[in-house]
Amino acid sequence: MPDSDNLMEAIVALCKRRGFVFPSSEIYGGQNGFFDYGPLGAELKKNIRDCWWNDMVRRRDDIVGIETSIIMHPKVWEASGHVAGFTDPLVDCRVSKQRFRADQVFFSKVVVDGRIEGYVSALESDRTAADLQERAEAFKRKKAIQGKLEPVQPHDMTEAAAAEIELIPSPATGEPGSLTPPRAFNMMFETHVGALRDESSVAYLRPETAQGMFVDFKNVMDTGRVKLPFGIAQIGRSFRNEITPRNFIFRSREFEQMEMEYFIHPDADWLACHEEWLRWCQEWLASIGLPGSRISLFEHPKEKLAFYSRRTVDIMFEYPFGVQELWGIAARSDYDLKQHAKFSGRPQEIFDETTKSKVVPHVIEPAVGVDRIFLAAICAGYAEEDVPDDKGNVEKRTVLRLSPRIAPVKVAVLPLLKNKPELVARAAELYRRLKRKYAVFYDEGGAIGRRYRRQDEIGTPWCVTIDFDTIEKDGLFTLRERDSMQQRRINETELFAMLEEKVF
Ligand code: GAP
Repeated sequence: MPDSDNLMEAIVALCKRRGFVFPSSEIYGGQNGFFDYGPLGAELKKNIRDCWWNDMVRRRDDIVGIETSIIMHPKVWEASGHVAGFTDPLVDCRVSKQRFRADQVFFSKVVVDGRIEGYVSALESDRTAADLQERAEAFKRKKAIQGKLEPVQPHDMTEAAAAEIELIPSPATGEPGSLTPPRAFNMMFETHVGALRDESSVAYLRPETAQGMFVDFKNVMDTGRVKLPFGIAQIGRSFRNEITPRNFIFRSREFEQMEMEYFIHPDADWLACHEEWLRWCQEWLASIGLPGSRISLFEHPKEKLAFYSRRTVDIMFEYPFGVQELWGIAARSDYDLKQHAKFSGRPQEIFDETTKSKVVPHVIEPAVGVDRIFLAAICAGYAEEDVPDDKGNVEKRTVLRLSPRIAPVKVAVLPLLKNKPELVARAAELYRRLKRKYAVFYDEGGAIGRRYRRQDEIGTPWCVTIDFDTIEKDGLFTLRERDSMQQRRINETELFAMLEEKVF
C-alpha cells in the first residue's frame, strides 16, 4: 500500500479515472473547494443518503423528514447567531497574498539556553510539532547559534500576542513580517434576492440545514403527527466560504449535510439522550461498513464549545491525512427555538399535557456531511494487493471494499464469452431482472479476470458469470465475491435472497 500522502493521491486519481469525483468546472481550470460527482460517485452518494434516510426516518416512528429552502429569510441567520458569529479567524500574508485560517497556522519561539532567538511556523498537520522542531533546529543551524535548543511549544496564531505577529514567519514565504493579525471572517455566502442589489436585499446561502428544522418546528408540530420526544431530519446542500478548503472533498465550500434535530422535554435527561444518539451514530457507521478501528471520539472542551452548544462530541475518523471530524453530536439546549421566538415574535412552545404548562423543548443534534462519509468509505475500503491471476501468476489488484449497502454497483453480470449467443441471452435476461431492483452492470468485454478487476476497483461486491454449465447442465451461475475472491455456484432464487439480505 502507498504511504499516506501517496495514498490520498491514489484515491483522488481513482475517483477521477473511474467517475466518482471530478473537480468542478475542470475545463475552465476548476474552482477551489467545489466538486462534481460522476456516474459512480452519484450512485455512492445516493446510497449513503438513502441508507441514512431509511434508518433515521422511515424505519423509526419518532422522526419525520422535511426539505427546506437553501435561501431563507435573512433574519433566520441573525437569530441563529450566524451573522454575528459564524466566523473563522483569517490571517493574510501581505507578500504572497495567500490566506490562512489562524487556528491552522502554528508557531513556536526558538529558545536556546533560555534566550528567545526567533520564531518558526508550520501549517497544521498530523506532525505539526515535529515540523516545528525541525524548523527550530534548522533556524539554529542557519544562524550558527550556540547552546542547547529547548523543545518547541506549539501555539496557533489565535493565541499570538500582538507583538509576536510581526516576528512569526509566514507559512507561504518562511520569512517574518508579512502576516496580518487574525480578523473574523464570516463564512456565509451572500447573495441578493430580487432586482435591487442593496442592503435590504441581502440574503445568504444556508451554512447548515439545521435552521430549517427550527424554523419549521411549529409547522411540523401542527401537522399533529408528532409528540415529544421526536425528531425532524433533513438532507441538503450547505455552503461555507471556507478560507482553506482542503483534503479533497473533506472540507469544501459546497457540501451536503444530513442533520437531525431531536426535540426533548426540558426536564428530560438530555445527557442520556446525547449518549444514546452518540451510540446510534456509531452503530450506523458500522452498518455501512466503516471499521470501528478507525473511529474515535473527541469531547469538545467546555471553553471551546460552539455558541449554541452545552456539550459536543465528535465522531472522528482516521483519514490518510490524519484523524478528523466526521460527525458532530451537539446538545443545543433550547437556544435555537428561543432565539427564533425572540426574533420572529412567535412563541416556539408546546403544551405539556403532564404538567399542563407550556414548555420550549431542548434539542440533541447529530449532524454529518455526506461527502465526509463518502471519503471515509473510500479511504477505508481502498487497498492495493498482490493476488494470483488465472494462471497462478502474481498480479496487482486495486480493490474498494465498500459495504454492499452503499456500493454503487451491487452486481456485475458477465457472460463467459461474448460470441456465444446463448450465454449472452441468458446473461441479458438475468441483467434485466436484477436491474428492476438493483444497480447492476453488464460487461461482456475482455478476459474474465480483467472484468473482475474492473469491478473490484469500483467496489462491486459480487460478479455473476454465466457459462456453458448454466445453459447446458444446471442453470447455476458462478458467484464471485470481491473480498475473498472465492467462487461458488448459486441459483437465481438464492442470488435474489442474498441480495435482499445484504442490500437494505
Ligand atoms: N448544524 C451543526 C453543524 O452544521 P458542523 O460541525 O459545522 O455543525 C456538521 O457541521 C457536519 O457537516 C460536520 O461534522 C461535517 O461532517 C460536515 N461539514 C461541515 N463543514 C464541512 C465542509 N466545509 N465540507 C464538508 N463537510 C462539512
